[in-house]
Amino acid sequence: MRTVYVNGDYLPETEAKVSIFDRAFLMADGVYEVTSVLGGKLIDFEGHLARLERSLNELDIKKPAVFDDLLDIHRELVRANQIEDGLVYLQVTRGSDGDRDFAFPDRETTEPTLVLFTQSKPGLATSPQAETGLKIISIDDQRWGRRDIKTVQLLYPSMGKMMAKAAGCDDAWMVEEGHVTEGTSNNAYIVKDGKIITRQLSNDILHGITRAAVLRFAREAQMTVEERLFTVDEAKDADEAFVTSASAFVMPVVEIDGQGVGTGTPGPVAKRLREIYLEESQNAAI
Ligand code: PDD
Repeated sequence: MRTVYVNGDYLPETEAKVSIFDRAFLMADGVYEVTSVLGGKLIDFEGHLARLERSLNELDIKKPAVFDDLLDIHRELVRANQIEDGLVYLQVTRGSDGDRDFAFPDRETTEPTLVLFTQSKPGLATSPQAETGLKIISIDDQRWGRRDIKTVQLLYPSMGKMMAKAAGCDDAWMVEEGHVTEGTSNNAYIVKDGKIITRQLSNDILHGITRAAVLRFAREAQMTVEERLFTVDEAKDADEAFVTSASAFVMPVVEIDGQGVGTGTPGPVAKRLREIYLEESQNAAI
């Protein structure tokens, strides 16, 4: 049985409890982070912590009192659950003042809820999907307008994954006003004539921690990066496509809406970026 963390306590997962009045349960009033673990070490931890702080600030959710201990809490869960490869999921919610109300409860008297748990994923970095690539569909982006905040409102992304599954595919890219925003749980990229193209940062997409690292490594390796809008047609006509996230790292996309991208197999740029990212991020893991 897993050991999980809830509001200061390390508990067996079956004993962990959160109020039915918790704002995340009633209103999706919470934010989260997912940090990967490779070889028992945390990947890009500082980036995830910085984005968590930003998400909390944007929503005026109080920082958990143990914010400065979050690295230790992550490490303790990795240790207690003997995670070699896997994920640490963290969620902070606005908490509960014991009733339901649209108005936020008094932040002086209502403590945020903090929950963390681990997911063991042996062989996370050697996923066979990296060899075959993903088949994706494009769908309308029907999420809210503050996608830069990593909230737990994941119903539409979940529906997107189910739409992909129903179409015999692995994932979906969302499209707004003719341009790809991002994947249901990852950032989206295409490669054309050697250039790596990905949507520029704004409130329309999550500011991926893996995205930031991958673009930095790409530039350091003298690759050309263009941060701009791109269409689904451009993606279908690209030489390569791929996605990035904390759980998938760099993952090639080989088919969009039934049409092969480039050769229809994982391309050299995505493969190279995956290698660089895995090597550099594991060297820097803590
Ligand atoms: N998802 N865009 C969306 C909508 C996401 O949900 C995610 C991450 C990303 C990539 O961000 P990062 O590189 O920081 O993981 C982009 C996580 C992995 C999840 O929900 O499980």
